[in-house]
Amino acid sequence: MGFKVAVVGATGNVGREMLNILEERGFPVGEVVALASRRSQGTEVSFGDRTLKVKALETYDFSDTDIALMSAGGNVSKEWSPKIGKQGCVVIDNSSAFRYDPEVPLIVPEVNPDAIEGFSKKNIIANPNCSTAQMLVALKPLHDAATIRRVVVSTYQSVSGAGKEGMDELFTQTRAVFVADPVEAKKFTKRIAFNVIPHIDVFMEDGTTKEEWKMVAETKKMLDPKIKVTATCVRVPVFIGHSEAVNLEFEKPITADEARDILREAPGCLVIDKHEDGGYITPIESAGEDATYISRIREDSTIDNGLNLWIVSDNLRKGAALNTVQIAELLVARGLIQPKQKAA
Ligand SMILES: NC(=O)c1ccc[n+]([C@@H]2O[C@H](COP(=O)([O-])OP(=O)(O)OC[C@H]3O[C@@H](n4cnc5c(N)ncnc54)[C@H](OP(=O)(O)O)[C@@H]3O)[C@@H](O)[C@H]2O)c1
Repeated sequence: MGFKVAVVGATGNVGREMLNILEERGFPVGEVVALASRRSQGTEVSFGDRTLKVKALETYDFSDTDIALMSAGGNVSKEWSPKIGKQGCVVIDNSSAFRYDPEVPLIVPEVNPDAIEGFSKKNIIANPNCSTAQMLVALKPLHDAATIRRVVVSTYQSVSGAGKEGMDELFTQTRAVFVADPVEAKKFTKRIAFNVIPHIDVFMEDGTTKEEWKMVAETKKMLDPKIKVTATCVRVPVFIGHSEAVNLEFEKPITADEARDILREAPGCLVIDKHEDGGYITPIESAGEDATYISRIREDSTIDNGLNLWIVSDNLRKGAALNTVQIAELLVARGLIQPKQKAA
């Protein structure tokens, strides 16, 4: 007996990773269906050692599908997730379309698994923004120990966070620089090759960007509405792996040694923190891995109860596909979903 799972956006960066992770973790699937836009109909994607022919979302009937893992962008999700949910198929959505809806749980399984219980109101569960997901995996155990009052975070976000077009642009521009061709910026607002861009998503009225706002709103929804968060989100010329420099102010005293011990035991966290050359993680080492890595744990002597951390994770995995599959696993583990089609 297994679940019928549809991956929507199966030809994209996150969708392909979802297929890999479903297979790697042995999710109990009876059938997996790959869906994308009409443009991709008939193309093939891998699922373990099998190949799946991609079907078009717009002609697919979800009535006998149990779970839809959505990673086809906000507009597609806004149109399709409510329709799919009404057909009795649980949607786990990677876009920001439903993250702030009070009737839609926003889940990182290591942080707020109990919030999943409310999913049946709309049959939609939201997956957080990639930068927030990895940050909260590291912050949750520290918050439980000493109560975080304020977070100051600067991100160093890879181009894969902007989809396959983002990766193509870094590759094409880098090659153009080497062969002295003109460098064209299409996906990003300025050249990304050998550069950094302090702008992700649209600008808000107060001068912050939507990506920065998401980190604030999602931390409050998932971890604690009382935490103050201020963020600066920056795109860097890295293909995979988001990094974050995080400054934390706690209510209660906590030393760097205590934080290191707590994080060593915390689910999803891996501490790499030697005070020597190379004794820390960089994004290239996080690519293809599941852990949220924490390095450079140190006290901030300029404030009471302050710590600094360096947090790195694969944005396509913990930031998106892995977290989505973990949410599906949570549904199954808690008996909140049963396969519609029983084994004959
Ligand atoms: N990348 C990250 O780090 C990350 C992290 C968290 C969340 N997310 C979210 O995950 C989603 C996908 O991101 P991505 O990086 O995988 O993007 P991507 O590589 O650009 O892939 C987009 C996918 O959506 C499909 N799609 C586009 N329009 C469609 C339509 N009208 N109907 C059906 N399918 C359609 C594409 O199919 P075609 O190939 O047929 O065009 C493709 O499979 C976005 O909502 C993004 O915000 C991404």
